Amino acid sequence: MATPRLVAAVSNAGGLGTLGGSTHDPPSLRRAIAEIRGLTDRPFAVNLLAWSPVLDSLLDVVIEQKVPVVSTGGGNPIPVIRRLAPHGIICLPVLSSVTRALRAEAAGAPAVVLEGMESGGHVGELTTFVLVREGARRLRVPVVAAGGIADAAGLVAALALGAEGVQLGTRFICTRECEVHPRVKQAFLAARCSDTVVTRHLTGLKVRVLRNRLAENLLDAEGGRPGRWQLARREASRMRQAFLEGDVEEGSLMAGQVVGLIDDLPSCAELVQGLAEGVRPVLSGLGERLGGP
Ligand SMILES: Cc1cc2nc3c(=O)[nH]c(=O)nc-3n(C[C@H](O)[C@H](O)[C@H](O)COP(=O)(O)O)c2cc1C
Repeated sequence: MATPRLVAAVSNAGGLGTLGGSTHDPPSLRRAIAEIRGLTDRPFAVNLLAWSPVLDSLLDVVIEQKVPVVSTGGGNPIPVIRRLAPHGIICLPVLSSVTRALRAEAAGAPAVVLEGMESGGHVGELTTFVLVREGARRLRVPVVAAGGIADAAGLVAALALGAEGVQLGTRFICTRECEVHPRVKQAFLAARCSDTVVTRHLTGLKVRVLRNRLAENLLDAEGGRPGRWQLARREASRMRQAFLEGDVEEGSLMAGQVVGLIDDLPSCAELVQGLAEGVRPVLSGLGERLGGP
């Protein structure tokens, strides 16, 4: 769902659009990067899952293509940070614990994304509220807050906790440039904040998804699990079934709790502009409530 078109739209809007890199092989990653560059001249990022067995060959491509920023999900980011640093590529690890963030900082990460368990996709144990606060208190590098942010109020809250920036996932699914099946956008618009569940049966790791028939069956499922990568591939095919084919009942619909706060389908430009322009009204509303000037 994080396709070149969405990435370029986010970067053109003033954000850092991020390509989902791990579903690519080296030639298709090269093509996706070229497509992004055909649509924007602004910086963008490529996200790679650090546990991918083909990670090295994908890193070869991002180095060769001089991609400005790489973010890592799933797995240990430290070898990626070390491999990219000599090439001047910024590596932003996405982490769900401050202990791991401290290790990434010591290995040279210039900033970290701390992702709370409200978020869509793979989740840890802590909420964004405490994770970001702990990170801001204990880390020296800048913290980007992820998980549960959909609007300017969420952005201001993250900044108040000490974050320097925010990463939004679920919110960008409901934009005009996101190329997921229209039924997915409708399911997201109809959902409430309490409509997501965490399952661990597709990958062996905890994944937050929109509650549907697949999620209910997985919650009921028992038994042994095959290897992690095999499961991750099975999950990817269920995600394709949901996000691209529009099977919102039997496909895997990763979504954060914040899905219940989404009620429109803006363009990325309108969304990013609304986030930025919404900050002052939120702050002045706060000032008034607190009796300040
Ligand atoms: C459908 C979906 C797919 C995602 N895929 C990835 C991924 O491949 N790699 C990654 O690091 N994070 C992934 N994430 C997490 C997002 O990058 C982001 O950190 C998260 O969505 C933030 O929380 P929010 O959903 O509350 O905005 C995904 C999230 C969603 C909703």
